Amino acid sequence: MSPNTVQIRNCAFEAEGLAVARTRVELDRAMARLREAGGRVALVPTMGALHEGHLALISKAQEIAERTVVSIYVNPQQFAAHEDLDTYPREELSDAKALKVAGIDLVWAPSNETMYGADFATWVLPEGAAKGLESDFRPHFFQGVATVVLKLFNQVSPDVAVFGEKDYQQLCVIRQLVRDLDLITEIAGVPTVREPDGLALSSRNNYLSTAERVIAPRFNGVLCEVAQALAEGHESEAMSKKAKKELLAAGFEKIDYIEARDAETLAPFDIDSGRPGRVLAAVWLGGTRLIDNVAI
Ligand code: PAJ
Repeated sequence: MSPNTVQIRNCAFEAEGLAVARTRVELDRAMARLREAGGRVALVPTMGALHEGHLALISKAQEIAERTVVSIYVNPQQFAAHEDLDTYPREELSDAKALKVAGIDLVWAPSNETMYGADFATWVLPEGAAKGLESDFRPHFFQGVATVVLKLFNQVSPDVAVFGEKDYQQLCVIRQLVRDLDLITEIAGVPTVREPDGLALSSRNNYLSTAERVIAPRFNGVLCEVAQALAEGHESEAMSKKAKKELLAAGFEKIDYIEARDAETLAPFDIDSGRPGRVLAAVWLGGTRLIDNVAI
């Protein structure tokens, strides 16, 4: 390799003896090998900093497919300029160890240059399930997610892809993407993995101070109370007003939203419809934005 072509890489995956692809050529070669071996291929898309929530997705993938590919890519296109792209945790070393233990078949870890050419100019613009909730506060977000997920599906061609209910609206947007664009990848959802005190696991929990970590589980506690009250027939707007007050009193600085929605379409929740519902919310604790949701 000439000095010009030498790439300085973080080699944690390679050091663990994991199969890793970092360029399209490497991915195509590795996928050809996996496909030759036969069986279904599952993709688990992640942004790294892996925790037990991600590992539950990997377990599900291994249950429903013979081969598991995990992508690790912090997608700049789903972060706004003022958001935490620069400080988002990157932990290739511990990710590599966790993936080695999990026994996955391939890590797909593209660079920004590999993912987005200098002349990149095509976007997926989801509406429907992408409208409202997160989009009211992160208007760029689902365009970035849908675009990168479609790219990942095209790159890997998985038979099935696994996503967490932790990001419930994202899961609905992905299901809609698959329906609307006639994609052949199946989507599997996995229930949210939580700390014993109810806090949903998230890479962003690392941002919480010790004092904030004590307050944080109240978020899920309040959502469960709202879901219970709605199931008993209480009116949804009054319930979310009460919940906002309680969360502010508990020490959360700001409530972006707390809303009851139809669990499939994300249309406003109507208990008389007999259809399943979901309470979805986003709150701020210190400088950290937390999202969570529970079934009604
Ligand atoms: P990331 O936040 O890394 O999450 C990757 C996957 O893990 C998502 O499907 C998410 O819902 C799931 N997940 C996160 N925390 C979880 C928990 N506590 N329990 C169960 N599942 C959990 O979501 C993204 O990355 C990105 O938007 C991505 C889809 C990779 C596109 O860039």
